[in-house]
Amino acid sequence: MKTIVISNRKGGSAKTTTAVNLASELAKKGSVLLIDFDTQGHASMGVGCQLSEECGAHSIFLGKTLSETFKPTIHDGLTVSSALEFFDVYEYADLRGVLKSRFKHEKIAEFFDYCIIDTPPTFDALLKNSLEVCDAVVIPFQPHHLGVVAVGQMMRAIYQSATQIGRDIAEIGILPVMYNPHINEHKLMLEKVKKSFGENKLFSPIGVDIKLAKMFESASPVVLNPKRSKGLRDYQKFTSELLERI
Ligand SMILES: Nc1ncnc2c1ncn2[C@@H]1O[C@H](COP(=O)(O)OP(=O)(O)OP(=O)(O)O)[C@@H](O)[C@H]1O
Ligand SMILES: [Mg+2]
Repeated sequence: MKTIVISNRKGGSAKTTTAVNLASELAKKGSVLLIDFDTQGHASMGVGCQLSEECGAHSIFLGKTLSETFKPTIHDGLTVSSALEFFDVYEYADLRGVLKSRFKHEKIAEFFDYCIIDTPPTFDALLKNSLEVCDAVVIPFQPHHLGVVAVGQMMRAIYQSATQIGRDIAEIGILPVMYNPHINEHKLMLEKVKKSFGENKLFSPIGVDIKLAKMFESASPVVLNPKRSKGLRDYQKFTSELLERI
């Protein structure tokens, strides 16, 4: 099983949009577990799953097994561990190794080919638990000055965590989102990211597509939509590039 964490402390950087479309696209190729670690529960909504106040991914910090939190989705190959809406991560700030231990004891890797984890816009126990199990981290960012600053901050935070955990996070990829090639500032920001972090870290960009915003209303990820769209093409290309890397 390959585990991919989607993360950026900067809010609204298309983490959830990326997690939902990546998980749905991968579900065409194998069995996928989508873990929604953001209590907003938007990834769960994106795959048509109702939030629960009793049981969700965060319940593993309250003693539940991960498997108990699994729910089927609109897509055959896609299982979701949805968010627990009112979980207060700050009460559990010191918890480490919980997700890793659940993966091991429940032999999660035997049941799924891919696991995608959507994380909240924070640097907390949820992200650290995710980094302990991941094979790759994807950082989506908007090509603005602060978006690029946030990528640098996120990279440093991940490397610092990796040192604390004592494991190498081999693959970190940066995904430009809501990119418009006609805006000069966007092009400049992409060049800046290439220079600062290396061209090999950068995925092909995801353009602006209103269907990517509307899909949450109908719980219909664009990659599962028969109507072709720019968002669909971009996320399919991103998925292929990611698969080549991992
Ligand atoms: N490529 C795109 N084109 C148009 N709208 C987009 C695109 N990507 C994301 N959006 C919209 O931008 C908003 C933020 O996206 P999303 O919720 O995925 O970000 P996020 O990083 O998960 O946010 P948060 O930090 O709150 O978890 C949403 O309204 C989403 O529908
Ligand atoms: Mg989100």
